[in-house]
This record gives sequence, C-alpha cells and structure tokens, in this order.
Amino acid sequence: MHSILENRPSLKAQIDAVAEVAGYLWLKGWAERNGGNITVNITEYVDDAMRALPPISEARPIGKTLPHLDGCWFYCKGTGKRMRDLARDPMANGSIIRISKDCAHYEIVADAPVAPTSELPSHLAVHDYLLAKGSPYRASLHTHPIELVALTHSRKWMEKDVATRMLWSMIPETKAFCPRGLGMVPYMLPSSVELADATIRAIDEDYDVVMWEKHGVFAVDTDIMSAFDQVDVLNKSALIYIAARDMGFEPEGMSDEQMKEMTAAFGLPK
Ligand code: 13P
Ligand code: ZN
Repeated sequence: MHSILENRPSLKAQIDAVAEVAGYLWLKGWAERNGGNITVNITEYVDDAMRALPPISEARPIGKTLPHLDGCWFYCKGTGKRMRDLARDPMANGSIIRISKDCAHYEIVADAPVAPTSELPSHLAVHDYLLAKGSPYRASLHTHPIELVALTHSRKWMEKDVATRMLWSMIPETKAFCPRGLGMVPYMLPSSVELADATIRAIDEDYDVVMWEKHGVFAVDTDIMSAFDQVDVLNKSALIYIAARDMGFEPEGMSDEQMKEMTAAFGLPK
C-alpha cells in the first residue's frame, strides 16, 4: 500500500519523531496498553496534492467548534492503539485527519481509516487555543508517567505550584527545561469536553505541562520531542525526590535564592 508519507520527507520526519517518542514512552513504562496519545499539527507540510485527496471516512464530530482550526491537518494516534506498536508503524496505529469547513468535524485522509484518539477533544481544543494565541507550538502529548501521576494522589501536591516548587528544586535542569512548571487539573472524566476546557484553562495560566489528577500529564511544545523532554525532566525530579525519601530523609531542595539565580542567569519566564 502506498503511504501519504512517500516523497514527502519533511512530513515523514514529523511522523518519524512521533514514532521515536512513542518508543521512549513505552520504554519508560508510561504507556501501558493503549495509554497516552499524541497529536501534531502538520498543516505546514500539506501540499496541493494532499489537499486534493478524497477523505477515507465520513465527517465525524469533534464535540466542539474550533474556529482557529480552519484548514488544519493533524497526525493523531489511533484510539485503542499501543505506543509500542506506533513506534514500529505510525501510519497503521494513527492517521492523518483534516478539519472540516465548519470547524466542528474532521475526516480521515490517510493512510488507513484509523479512528483518532479518544482524547481528541482535549488535543484539538488545545491546538485551537495555541493558534489563537499565535503560539509556535505544534505538538501535544498525553502520557501516564508513573511518579508524576502518583504525586496527584495527595491533596498537598495538587495545590497550585507546590509540586512545581519541589520538582524545580531537585536539580537545576528541571527549572531550565520545564520553565513554566506543572499546572494542575482536578479529576475529570477521560476524553470529556469538560477535561478539554479545564486543560485549556490550566495552559492559559502559563503552563506547558499540566497534570490530569490521578490520570496523566498533558504537555505542549513546538514539536513532539520537546514536549516529551518537558515531561521527562519533571519525572526525573520526581524520581530524585523519591530516591532521597527512600534513603530515609526529606530532600533539602535548592533554595529560593538558587532558583532566582537560575531565572536571572538563563532568562527564564518564572
Ligand atoms: P486512546 O487509546 O483513545 O488514545 O486513549 C488512551 C488514554 O490514555 C486516554 O486517556
Ligand atoms: Zn490517558
């Protein structure tokens, strides 16, 4: 079977990066069964021949009307598909969709009619929000990182910026490479429009990474590798915290002065 990626090296590079990240998610133990999902706004790689292709599905409702997605195209992980399978074959475990003219429906265009992730409302609503803001971010990642999810089972860590402060203070790189910290979204039904709206509210408070309580993280960045890196540094900090507790003490953490020094030295936003 021919793939839409044939003779489109820049589009293929985007999908290859998704497959690479999917492999990391599996290796990290963050992607049990079909856990997690990825979408990438690929509109800038779409050519006239792609635009002329007929859909291979009927138009399906997004669940929201998203006016800034007019003319947009996305790669989406398939619902029920495994990250470890996507790592091997991204076009059999995900699909390329385009948004319908009414901005309330999508249709699948290639390669196979793989239904997009159940978290599509959150992913597309966030892409719509990012485009409305003029953001250069094009990728969103939802995954189930063990130690970060464990934190959300405690009221203390769900309070605004309490986890951010602890995670930033474990190792300087976490503040440098996840410089907006970790937002918190209270538990809501997976795949719901309410969860999508709450995710946008949290991102709008100026976070690139937000926790879905007792579920997972949702991260946005320019590309999928960068979104993965933000989650990876946060989870590394959680592991350092746990390692110190396992050694029998509460870790001291970097001081407020040391963290302020980082903000000034590296021109960080917070
Ligand atoms: P999907 O298989 O529909 O992408 O769902 C996985 C998941 O993590 C839902 O939150
Ligand atoms: Zn999930």
